[in-house]
Amino acid sequence: MPKKIYIKTYGCQMNVYDSARMADTMAPFGYSETDSPEDADLVVLNTCHIREKAEEKVYSDLGRLQRLRQTRRQAGGKMLIAVGGCVGQAEGEEITRRAPYVDMVFGSQNYHELPTMVASALQGMPSVNLDFAPEAKFDFLLEQSAKPDGTFGKSEFITIQEGCDKFCTFCVVPYTRGAELSRKAKDILAEAKNLAAHGVVEITLLGQNVNAYHGEGQGGKDWTLARLIRALAEIEGIERIRYMTSHPRDMDDDLIAAHAEVEKLMPFLHLPIQSGSNTILSKMNRRHKAVFYLEIIEKLRKARPDIALSSDFIVGFPGESDIDFAATLRLVEAVGYAQAYSFKYSPRPGTPAANDDQQVEEQVKDARLQELQALLTRQQTLFNHASIGRTMPVLLDRSGKYQGQLLGKSPYMQSVHVRDAGDMEGQIAEVTITEAHANSLTGVITGQAELNMRKFI
Ligand code: SAH
Ligand code: SF4
Ligand code: F3S
Repeated sequence: MPKKIYIKTYGCQMNVYDSARMADTMAPFGYSETDSPEDADLVVLNTCHIREKAEEKVYSDLGRLQRLRQTRRQAGGKMLIAVGGCVGQAEGEEITRRAPYVDMVFGSQNYHELPTMVASALQGMPSVNLDFAPEAKFDFLLEQSAKPDGTFGKSEFITIQEGCDKFCTFCVVPYTRGAELSRKAKDILAEAKNLAAHGVVEITLLGQNVNAYHGEGQGGKDWTLARLIRALAEIEGIERIRYMTSHPRDMDDDLIAAHAEVEKLMPFLHLPIQSGSNTILSKMNRRHKAVFYLEIIEKLRKARPDIALSSDFIVGFPGESDIDFAATLRLVEAVGYAQAYSFKYSPRPGTPAANDDQQVEEQVKDARLQELQALLTRQQTLFNHASIGRTMPVLLDRSGKYQGQLLGKSPYMQSVHVRDAGDMEGQIAEVTITEAHANSLTGVITGQAELNMRKFI
């Protein structure tokens, strides 16, 4: 009998990718995706543990699902509830203690076993499955399949690396995702070729430490990310390549050179620094100084003058003084970001910084976050305004709210709205920017884009 699966995704892009693979895993068992939990026979929460708020959200969503499940039961039906992803990995049985109606808990490395877990749950046997074997996860990866409407998007993710060995003192990822592991280059190339054959034009390579990539390449020798990007750029049909998230320490010269050489590599880089203070960087175990980061930015700009930059920042890390925070503001001023994310430090159980006795008061964190966000918003607005009058290739991959409107991304990751876009959906169009807003641009199509980006710099 056909069944429905509803998957809610929290957290990072790697979870987005994993959720899509979960749907692929369940499809052969008769489960098709639905976007409303009310219709679902199986609800999966693919969770995130990075900050306390992300975790709380899961428990409040579970409360709502319990009520849905009861209604379903009263009507003589059945609804299974599964918690997967990073909260699953970190909390395991604690979840079934707090929410005993949960049928399955699994970690970020076990979703390929979902069919077995579902079969047991249907027999009334709940399960908690936290085995840690990322190799197995990569081996079990299915070919990416089309979305429920039978199409592929124009821009898709490919996970190339999982886990992290860096152990920043604030971060749960090394515990929830495990040690760094890279996928084999030939499997990644095969996935990219398959996507290209289905009309995908942009791929984003994903990994918690994507630029630490060192997967087995041809002849058994490890490939670097730069080498992998060069090989992916040879694939016909793939016109744009992006990667995230990178660590400054793994930003080697060859990868920087790839930004100069590889046309298809987009001029945008998310390179988190977290803080501009050397004292705080050291306490965070980032193992580099602020000046090292600034030198990388300089090299990147030399290689690719129009490169747009993004970062993550944490304010109120234990021990952060006014002077440390001022150093972060100075660094932001020095770099000039196109966009960035900033967060208040959230103590995570089991991480070293959570036990630090120099925790910063909430009020101070709030004030610093506001000040930093105001500066970042100013920079982003400035960056967007500098686009007015420029012509750039935009991948118009979605339809907009209004008739004839299409949305897409600029090479610099800005959202671009185009009115009267005709039949350009799915194409890379040459768009001249006419208006800029804090979070997006508006433009008009002035032609079919030539794929050579150099023309636009
Ligand atoms: N691997 C990436 C980041 C992954 S987590 C890197 O090295 O930068 C995404 C972002 O969440 C981090 O960059 C950090 O800014 C934020 N983050 C992680 N742990 C956090 C915590 N305990 N409190 C607040 N923000 C946190
Ligand atoms: Fe977390 Fe640091 Fe690893 Fe990034 S590098 S995932 S912040 S431990
Ligand atoms: Fe969250 Fe796990 Fe990603 S903790 S940010 S979903 S790796």
